[in-house]
Amino acid sequence: DYIHGLKGLNNLEKKIQDMLNINRVYIVPGDSSEDIITFKDMGKTASLLIKQLIKDGDIIGITGGTTMAQVAEEMTADKNKKDVLVIPARGGLGKDLETQSNNIAASLAKKIGGSYRLLQVPDNVGGEALKALMTVHEIKEVLDMIKNMNVLIFGIGRADVMAQRRELEPDKIEKIKKEGAVAEAFGHYFNTDGNIVLETSTIGLSLDDFKGIDTVIGVASGKEKAEAIIAISKLHSNMTLVIDEGAARKILTMS
Ligand code: BG6
Repeated sequence: DYIHGLKGLNNLEKKIQDMLNINRVYIVPGDSSEDIITFKDMGKTASLLIKQLIKDGDIIGITGGTTMAQVAEEMTADKNKKDVLVIPARGGLGKDLETQSNNIAASLAKKIGGSYRLLQVPDNVGGEALKALMTVHEIKEVLDMIKNMNVLIFGIGRADVMAQRRELEPDKIEKIKKEGAVAEAFGHYFNTDGNIVLETSTIGLSLDDFKGIDTVIGVASGKEKAEAIIAISKLHSNMTLVIDEGAARKILTMS
């Protein structure tokens, strides 16, 4: 099939898979930090893989970000799946509508003929306000669904890039720098060993929840994300990764 045996990169896939010690690695030719076509191909490959993996009745969580937006964009209609539910993995991270997980979850659900639920909790709500929000029936319901998701599709970011994009407070930036954060995924910042350095104050998927999900598919591209990908691959041994050749070749040099 299209996904397997993609343009002779099987050997590289196998090497990276063994190196990262995860379930499966798919490599898309090219480097998305140099060309936009590779970025589109990433979305295409990931969407095909997702179609192959999802089953009737699945609860699929998805994060935000430009990569996930591309995955949803490239997804083609699927009329064969029954009772699939798509939900955002966490509440409103980011200000840009196009790359918000809520929006991405909705557009993915429409394409695969599933339903969706939204988690509308703004960024940086903390303390009493957050506690109060969590008692709201609709929010509680979606949080329960998040606890029950069995598939997660997520983006991987560099800690520095994501901190800047999310306009993290100076003391938090200081903390993640000091503690060596290199990666970010689903609102958590991690060091090279895959240990948490900081969790952003949004609600939704926790690291413990993440570790209990059967099918986790990370999608990330560009050689600049190599270190972040290595860190995130330590979180879950049953992980599937879709990366590009640029990231893969860089990872090889880092062993
Ligand atoms: C965020 C996700 O929205 O996107 C993160 O919550 C991820 O998991 C990030 O790190 C990646 O963004 P991009 O734009 O590089 O795909």
